[in-house]
Amino acid sequence: MILANKLIYWYLHNKRELPWRKTKDPYRVWLSEIMLQQTRVAQGLPYFLKFTEAFPTVFDLAKADENEVLKLWQGLGYYSRARNLHFTAKYIAKELNGVFPKNYKELLQLKGIGDYTASAIASICYDEPVAVVDGNVYRVLSRYFGIATPINSTKGIKEFKELAQTLIDVSQPGVYNQAIMDFGALHCKPQNPLCNECPVLESCVALAKNSIKELPVKEKKIKIKKRYFNYLVPITDDNQTVLEERTGKGIWQGLYQFPLLEAKNEIDEKELIQHEQFIKLFPEETIISLFNNKDIVHKLSHQHLITKFWVVKTREVNEKTMSWSAVKKQPVPVLIDKFLEEYLNKES
Ligand code: ADE
Repeated sequence: MILANKLIYWYLHNKRELPWRKTKDPYRVWLSEIMLQQTRVAQGLPYFLKFTEAFPTVFDLAKADENEVLKLWQGLGYYSRARNLHFTAKYIAKELNGVFPKNYKELLQLKGIGDYTASAIASICYDEPVAVVDGNVYRVLSRYFGIATPINSTKGIKEFKELAQTLIDVSQPGVYNQAIMDFGALHCKPQNPLCNECPVLESCVALAKNSIKELPVKEKKIKIKKRYFNYLVPITDDNQTVLEERTGKGIWQGLYQFPLLEAKNEIDEKELIQHEQFIKLFPEETIISLFNNKDIVHKLSHQHLITKFWVVKTREVNEKTMSWSAVKKQPVPVLIDKFLEEYLNKES
């Protein structure tokens, strides 16, 4: 028997009886799917019941005050989802006369409805064979097929969606989608999955390879730090500038750059000229212009350097100066090199 049939067979014997499973009303299915994206079925159920009691139809939700909607959502978190839900209810009520779009592609156009929700509604309510891929589906498929591609990588998202699409039972896509999700939630669980009594144990790759615990694989997303770089580009009366060597640990050690003023946030000209470092460097009057009107964002693996180049014309600067031809001979980071190319092109 193929995987879909086994999962559906399992589902028919083990499925949870839930209010949104007794209907093909897209309004109720939509509500349940949005709620279940952020909570487990047991916690989501009372919210679903309260919501549908207060707003039995999409027109009732559309008419509601936003605060009332948010109040009923309280505790579910991700309040932007509730706002999107309300926005889309108003759109469906007013612009579509309360009739939901009837296919995946059109559902996807609605605010707050992404690939997962559009697939769920289209398959459950309109029998369109589009596969859902949620956390449960990732787990079942990665284990059953022994796939170690990270599920939160671009490659993984595409690979699992394509695979899921090949497995769907086109004669009952809504049942199949809910079967694989329930199977993941109740049987092929993250911890202590019930492998001994699994209906597909004979063909499960991870079980055969003893890699159930390692799957699915999730890529560790590193936190990107934002840094605010203000390069001060002195221009003296005799058209000299200043370049310093980057010392200490950290990026670009040993390379040369213009005097750098790093700030905690973005700063404007007024804040710049009050900065101690600026005052130290420029004891005399200055004429300042921001070279790049739009911030340059230089991306490194762990940090984004949000950069401004301030061209500062002055008579005197408290640093050793050098000519532009000398500047061109120094090793500099790409960020500085790009500036030099633009600046010197403009000036010549
Ligand atoms: N999780 C989210 N939606 C679900 C559904 N319709 N069936 C099973 N699990 C789900």
